[in-house]
Amino acid sequence: MQEQALHEIQNASTLEALQAVKTHYLGKNGALTSQLKTLGQLPPDERKAKGAEINVLKTQLEEAVTVRQKVLEEAALEQKLRSEALDVTLPGVDFPVGGPHIISRILSDMEDIFARMGYRTVHGQEVEEDFYNFDALNIPGWHPARDMWDTFWLTDNRLLRTHTSPMQIRYMLEHTPPFKIIVPGKVYRFEATDATHESMFHQVEGLVVGDNISMADLKGTIAELARGTFGPRAKVRFQPSYYPFTEPGADFAVWWENPRGESKWLELGGSGMVHPNVFRAVDDLREARGLERIYEGKTGFAFGMGPERIAMLKYGIPDIRYFYQNDLKVLEQFKGELG
Ligand code: PHE
Repeated sequence: MQEQALHEIQNASTLEALQAVKTHYLGKNGALTSQLKTLGQLPPDERKAKGAEINVLKTQLEEAVTVRQKVLEEAALEQKLRSEALDVTLPGVDFPVGGPHIISRILSDMEDIFARMGYRTVHGQEVEEDFYNFDALNIPGWHPARDMWDTFWLTDNRLLRTHTSPMQIRYMLEHTPPFKIIVPGKVYRFEATDATHESMFHQVEGLVVGDNISMADLKGTIAELARGTFGPRAKVRFQPSYYPFTEPGADFAVWWENPRGESKWLELGGSGMVHPNVFRAVDDLREARGLERIYEGKTGFAFGMGPERIAMLKYGIPDIRYFYQNDLKVLEQFKGELG
């Protein structure tokens, strides 16, 4: 038994196996323990010698277990340390980092260009009232021009703004000319989408009000924007157009030769001189609020344009829907640097 037990202890390959061997021989019902229990049946003179013998064996086995246990514990620790080792010299794991959306970049570039011309950037609200989106802009409820803006109505007089022009009214109500502002933001149109139409897109509104502001100022401003965006060779063209809140009104297009050597005129937005009825509506509202009438006799121009169109022209993006499908394969091509 001594040989067999020592052999098993020495060969236990895990702490669990060693524990099992220990229990088998030294446990409460173990082989050695049961031998001790049989001592009582021996004659007294044999009992003493046999008892001593068993106790020596017991001590020997316990020591062997302790030695083996230490060996196994050290091995287990060694193994654990090795498996948890951290090699700080390994290269780090690269994970994808986002960047500004192409439209955000175009917008901030436009803000910079206008800031250099002395413009302040302000923001309006996307949920608007009928009054600011239409009536005060010389588009009363019965006016057929309302059909120019397919509208998402939220309630009878609440809507998703169809353009950034309502901010013209809101700004004038609270500020005294002269001033120059741009209003970048999202606008909504209730219409079928295709390569050039989305139900949500962006506009950058511009409004300048002061004394003796002329159409020439408007043209010079748009030309400056075109050169700032497309380079010094860009040209602009104005064409008569109709907007109830301008008189006269004009659409403008930009000519630009892209890096592939192609060039053409592309419609970028609408503009015009602020209609006297718009100034009148603001003054009426100011008066109703107990404020002074300050807009009659002032002059100004306004414009509104789409950054999506600028991005499409500049980068040759064929479909406006690419911007908001958020396909990373598309977005990553135009990802800007963070910060
Ligand atoms: N708000 C007009 C539109 O959405 C654009 C525009 C703005 C035209 C300012 C003239 C002046 O179509």
